[in-house]
Amino acid sequence: MKHIGAGIAIAGIGSATGNLIVDNHLLSQIVETNDEWISTRTGIKERRLVNSDGCADLAVSSLAEIAAQAAQAALAMAEISATDVDLIILTTSTPDDLFGSACQIQALIGAKGAVAFDLTAACSGFVFGLVTAAQFIRTGVYRNVLLIGADILSRWVDWSDRSTCVLFGDGAGAVVLQANSVDRLLGFELRSDGSQNNCLNLAYKSQPKSLVKDIAVGSGGYQSITMNGREVYRFAVAKVPEVIEKALYRANLLTEDVDWLLLHQANQRIMDAVAQRLKLPPEKIISNLAKYGNTSAASIPLALDEAVRAGKIQSGDIIATSGFGAGLTWGAAILRWGK
Ligand code: ACO
Repeated sequence: MKHIGAGIAIAGIGSATGNLIVDNHLLSQIVETNDEWISTRTGIKERRLVNSDGCADLAVSSLAEIAAQAAQAALAMAEISATDVDLIILTTSTPDDLFGSACQIQALIGAKGAVAFDLTAACSGFVFGLVTAAQFIRTGVYRNVLLIGADILSRWVDWSDRSTCVLFGDGAGAVVLQANSVDRLLGFELRSDGSQNNCLNLAYKSQPKSLVKDIAVGSGGYQSITMNGREVYRFAVAKVPEVIEKALYRANLLTEDVDWLLLHQANQRIMDAVAQRLKLPPEKIISNLAKYGNTSAASIPLALDEAVRAGKIQSGDIIATSGFGAGLTWGAAILRWGK
């Protein structure tokens, strides 16, 4: 059955995190850092990492498993079963399998009727995935889309580099996007700028491997995360307010109409500066960064899930959300909460 011109609404949301709590004091045993530096520069107090020590009682150790947990919670809230899902989009930069992990999640949750694929846009992944999912629903192709943002960046952090290892945590967040008579995605804007790609990388480094004389192929591996923190900071503070204003314009709304500012949880100083530029009061900022650190593609649905379950976000509220990160990529979406 087709649903041409259907609107889109978030019918369910869920999240899951790593179960190993690493606070700033524990980090100071790993690298030369301290709680005061991390707290004042980033706002992060602790992060939840996926434990890889092989303990049998730690159920979750893969990206697919953590994502499946979040997905199941979202399906339960939406009151649909996995077999009702038409499409699964996994946004991640850290799949268990470079060929993609969306199909692994499909198998874990038993979404037999769905088609599943990965989408990579680093910390902008959730917003890019939201807009991608919306196209399939609006054109009437699919009715129920499971969108998951999940990352295990602890696998790719250089644990001797204090300038990056203090920032990241592991997590997953999922939403069920549904065809709806009223459209709740009011506006969006997506951007990228590859000329600044070298600001933030998790890059493949090739090592030549000789096959026969004069013929070699690349046989390397992925390097740890590298980041020009100051450049990323400058980029975020300049571009995020701009892209939110553009998305609000497309939604025919003003900044004063915004009830909640839900940014990618990278740094509290970035969130505060963006709110200030948009002239939004601090109490409108949704932030759970202190507890989870930067969970990349998971950070927005993770914060949204907590705020919804805490009863903070109410039906009818306008949410301005924005993701930004490697690529460089950035984007914003304006949502009205509810069905
Ligand atoms: N503990 C103690 N000292 C530290 C630490 C640490 N963990 N890390 C760096 N320092 C030191 C530096 O060595 C430097 O010392 P020096 O002055 O003696 O050379 C000093 O602190 C200042 O370092 P800066 O890098 O200039 O610190 P800054 O104020 O810029 O803060 C930070 C760094 C927090 C990374 C900031 O630049 C930032 O938040 N940038 C944005 C990063 C971000 O959001 N990244 C994620 C993007 S999303 C994605 O796609 C993954």
